[in-house]
Amino acid sequence: MRLDKLLANTGHGSRKDVKSLLKKKLVTVNDTVVKDNSVHVDPYKDIIKVGGNAVHYQKYVYLMMNKPKGVISATVDGKEKTVIDLLTTDMHRFRPFPVGRLDKDTEGLLLITNDGELAHQLTSPKKDIEKTYYARIQGNVTDEDKEKFAAGVLLDDGYKAKPAKLNIRRRDAISEVEVTVTEGKYHQVKRMFETVGKKVTYLRRISMGELVLDETLKLGTYRELTENELDYCISLKK
Ligand code: URA
Repeated sequence: MRLDKLLANTGHGSRKDVKSLLKKKLVTVNDTVVKDNSVHVDPYKDIIKVGGNAVHYQKYVYLMMNKPKGVISATVDGKEKTVIDLLTTDMHRFRPFPVGRLDKDTEGLLLITNDGELAHQLTSPKKDIEKTYYARIQGNVTDEDKEKFAAGVLLDDGYKAKPAKLNIRRRDAISEVEVTVTEGKYHQVKRMFETVGKKVTYLRRISMGELVLDETLKLGTYRELTENELDYCISLKK
C-alpha cells in the first residue's frame, strides 16, 4: 500500500496534508525518515511513525447504531440526512455503509461497516439470517395472523414471503408484537401486516443474527462492535 494512502486512511489529513508531513521529515518507516509519498509499505509489518507516534492501520470498521427516525439508510443523499451523516468525520475515511436498509421511520439496530463480504453474508437471501423487530400494530393481532405469518403471506406484488415468526406480546386496539423474518424485501414487515388488514405504527429492529441492539445506545448514537460480536461477524465470512 502507498505510504500516502495509508497515512490518509489513518486520519492524517488529505493527501496534500500528508505530503507536507513528509516534507517536514515527520514520517519514519522502520526508523528511517521517508519523504517520498509514493513509497510502498506493508501496513501490518512495517513500523510507521508520524512525529514519533506509531500509526495503527485498521482496514475495517464495524459499528452498531441505534438508528433514529427521520434519517435514511444510505451513504449520501442530495436532500435527506443519512445514517452516515450521524458518524463523526474521522469515521468517514473508512467509507462505511449501512448493511441492509431500515425505512426512514424505522428505528433500531443498524450495522455500519466497510466490510463488503460481511454485508453480503448478512443480507444474502441464501443465508436466512434472522432479523427480529419489535412492532406496534393498529388492530388486534390474532393467532390466525400468527399462523398466516408462519405459512408465509402473499405480499401485494405477488411475492410469497418466507415463513416468519410472530410473537404476540399484547393484544388490544394497539397490539405489540415481535416479528422475525429471514429476508429484507422493501417495507417487508409493514407489507406483511397489510396482508392481514393491519397497520404498523412503530417499528424497531432489535436483532440481526446474533447481533442484539445495545439498549444503552441512545437513538442516533453508535459504538464499535465488541469482541464477541466481531467473532460472530467473522464466523459468518468463513
Ligand atoms: N420492514 C419494514 O417494513 N421496514 C423496515 O424498515 C424494516 C423491515
